[in-house]
Amino acid sequence: MSRPSVIPPTGFPFTRPRRTRMAGWSRRLVQENRLSAADLIWPVFVIDGENEARPISGLPGVSRLTIDLLIVEAKRAVGLGIPAIALFPAVDPSRKSDEAEEAWNPDGLMQRAIRAVKAAVPDIGLIGDVALDPYTLHGHDGIVVGDRVDNDESVAALVKMALAQAEAGIDVIAPSDMMDGRIGAIREALEENGYSQTLILSYAAKYSSGFYGPFRDALGVTGASYGPQGKATYQMDPANSDEALQEVAIDLSEGADWVMVKPGMPYLDVLYRVKETFAVPTFAYHVSGEYAMWKAGVAAGYIDGNRTLLETLIGFKRAGADGILTYAALEAAELLRG
Ligand code: PBG
Repeated sequence: MSRPSVIPPTGFPFTRPRRTRMAGWSRRLVQENRLSAADLIWPVFVIDGENEARPISGLPGVSRLTIDLLIVEAKRAVGLGIPAIALFPAVDPSRKSDEAEEAWNPDGLMQRAIRAVKAAVPDIGLIGDVALDPYTLHGHDGIVVGDRVDNDESVAALVKMALAQAEAGIDVIAPSDMMDGRIGAIREALEENGYSQTLILSYAAKYSSGFYGPFRDALGVTGASYGPQGKATYQMDPANSDEALQEVAIDLSEGADWVMVKPGMPYLDVLYRVKETFAVPTFAYHVSGEYAMWKAGVAAGYIDGNRTLLETLIGFKRAGADGILTYAALEAAELLRG
C-alpha cells in the first residue's frame, strides 16, 4: 500500500492530472481500489420465536430476526455474494443474569442459531461475537466484581462462551470484550478441545464509543454500562492510536488470525496504521451509530443514500480494510450488483 511518492518531472502545464479524469473509461482504468460484495460482512440480530422481524429504534431498515427468517436472509446474502454474517443474539431479559450463564447454554438462542444456519446455509461464513453484554443484567461485557469489571473472571466466562459457539459449529470466534489475555485463553481452549481450525477475529482496537447507541437498543441492554464512562475501563480511549498497535500486537501474539478496528469512520487513521504495520487480514466495523447517522441524513434529504454508502465503504478499503462489517451490507451488495 505505501509506495514511494512520485514526483512529476515537470510542473503545470505539462502535468495536468485532470487529463486522466476527463473520461469515464480512463477514470475506471486507473481506479486504485474496488469494492465488491466479497468485502462485506453482514451483522444480524437474532431473536427467539417464529416468522417475526422486530424493528429496532435507531436502526431504520434493520430488524431482529427469528431463526427461520434469518435462514431466508442468509440465503439471500449468499446469493448476493456476501461471504459471511456476524450473529448477535437479542436474548430475552428473563435469561439475563449477573454471571451470564446463558452465554454458554448449549441450547441457548445463539447456539441454536449457529446450528440452524450452518445446516441450512453451509456456504456462508458464521462469525460469533464473544462478549457478555447480551447476557448480563448490567450490560457490561464482563463479570462485575464489587465495583469493577474483573478481567480474569471475565476471561474464564468468555472461554466457556467461545467453546459453546465452537461446539455449535461457528467458523469465526470474534471476541469484542477487550479483556486482557482473552485471545490467548480462547485459543488455548480451542486447541485443547479439538477446534484447531476455528478462526479468531479479534476486536483488537475497540474504542469506548458513543456510536454504539442503537446497538444497545437492538439487544435491550438497559444497564449503566452505556454511560459516558461505562466501558472506558476496558474499551480504548478515542484519543489514542499507538495503543491500538499494542493491542493488535498482543492479540496476534496470542493467536488471533484476523483483527478489527471499531468503530469505523472516525478511526480510519487507526485502520490504516494497523494494516500498514501488521499486514494481516484487517476488518473495520461501520457501527450502529454510524449507520443511524447515515440513515438520518438520507431521511432528511440532506445526502444521497446510495452514493454516500458506496463512498463510505470504498473509504474503508482505501484505508486498508480487507472487509467491512456493516448493517447496510445487503443494500450495498444489491447496489454493487446493479
Ligand atoms: C459487544 C458489542 C458491541 C458492539 C458489537 N459488539 C457493543 C459494545 O461494545 O458496547 C457494537 C456494535 C454496533 O454499535 O454496531 N460488546
